[in-house]
Amino acid sequence: MKAAVLHALGRRPRFQDVPEPPPGVGQELVRVTACPLTNLDRVLAAGTHFASPTALPAVCGSLAAGTLPDGARVLFRSAGGTMAERALTRRELCTPIPDGLDDALAAAVQNPGVSTWAALQWRARLQPGERLLILGATGVAGQVAVQLARRLGARRIVAAGRNPRVLATLPGLGADATIQLDQPDEALRDAFRAEGGFDVVLDYLWGRPTELFISTLGSTDMQLRSSRTRCVQVGTMAGAHVALPAEVLRSSGLEILGFGTGNAPPPEHLARLLHDVMALLAGGGLHIDVNRVPLALVEEVWDLDQQGTRTVLIP
Ligand SMILES: NC(=O)c1ccc[n+]([C@@H]2O[C@H](COP(=O)([O-])OP(=O)(O)OC[C@H]3O[C@@H](n4cnc5c(N)ncnc54)[C@H](OP(=O)(O)O)[C@@H]3O)[C@@H](O)[C@H]2O)c1
Repeated sequence: MKAAVLHALGRRPRFQDVPEPPPGVGQELVRVTACPLTNLDRVLAAGTHFASPTALPAVCGSLAAGTLPDGARVLFRSAGGTMAERALTRRELCTPIPDGLDDALAAAVQNPGVSTWAALQWRARLQPGERLLILGATGVAGQVAVQLARRLGARRIVAAGRNPRVLATLPGLGADATIQLDQPDEALRDAFRAEGGFDVVLDYLWGRPTELFISTLGSTDMQLRSSRTRCVQVGTMAGAHVALPAEVLRSSGLEILGFGTGNAPPPEHLARLLHDVMALLAGGGLHIDVNRVPLALVEEVWDLDQQGTRTVLIP
């Protein structure tokens, strides 16, 4: 069968023949129909993620849509790689895809949909009426965040990103205002300050934009305040580090949390979120753009800027 195979960390996977994996006890051989290409796949393959593979060569991808031997359409996870014509899974790692929802859309929504919903509800505990800033709102996850935050009753949603084409679409998804991130530092700080504060920040970027935002939070007087700004760190598209002045932590209500494997909701909660997010998508209550690309082109599209549209590889 054909698969996207990584031979060395930091290189792009190659489309090549590999043996079909034989199912072991309790395993099912899935016919893969759609496999998303996420930033997680890319950083794992780059060798810059804490869970990057140690045994190579390896088939890339950890999640896909596919068809089980009994004909059921499912989203499934697999430790053996999913960017292939066939992959192994177990029933407990499968979630049925609702009727009417296309496999490529289901595959595309899992990573940004579940993580964003969990980051907003589980980590940030976003309450109706709160003000939200999304750093990296032009990405696939950021666009989902705009839509889910609106559903969760956020009072004001400010969406910050660089790509002007995608930024212009965000009010249509539910953003109240947008901030262009690629502007001089002081102008960007002024744009953040002009909003007058946020209860929650969803951060897909870290690095310079987040650092500049954090620098706007400190006060310059000794007045007692009891503000809270819960910043949930989800992705590191603009950098792996920020400088964090201690005085900002003492003179503001900044609280920094992360969302990821170390602090996720219990599996049954995540399963419910995935079910709910697919139902929303199937019912037209959530929009996500996908670009279907033959798996054979995996090497060519691996590093491309997806510009707000999730690439989905079709075996
Ligand atoms: N922790 C988790 O469970 C979890 C789950 C899902 C995603 N994530 C992470 O969240 C991040 C976003 O995911 P995604 O699916 O939305 O990715 P995406 O669709 O590729 O979007 C990338 C976003 O990052 C922005 N960006 C890239 N480089 C930048 C830079 N140097 N400076 C400023 N902005 C920059 C892009 O802005 P423009 O397009 O405007 O240039 C865009 O908004 C990724 O790091 C991903 O790994 C984490």
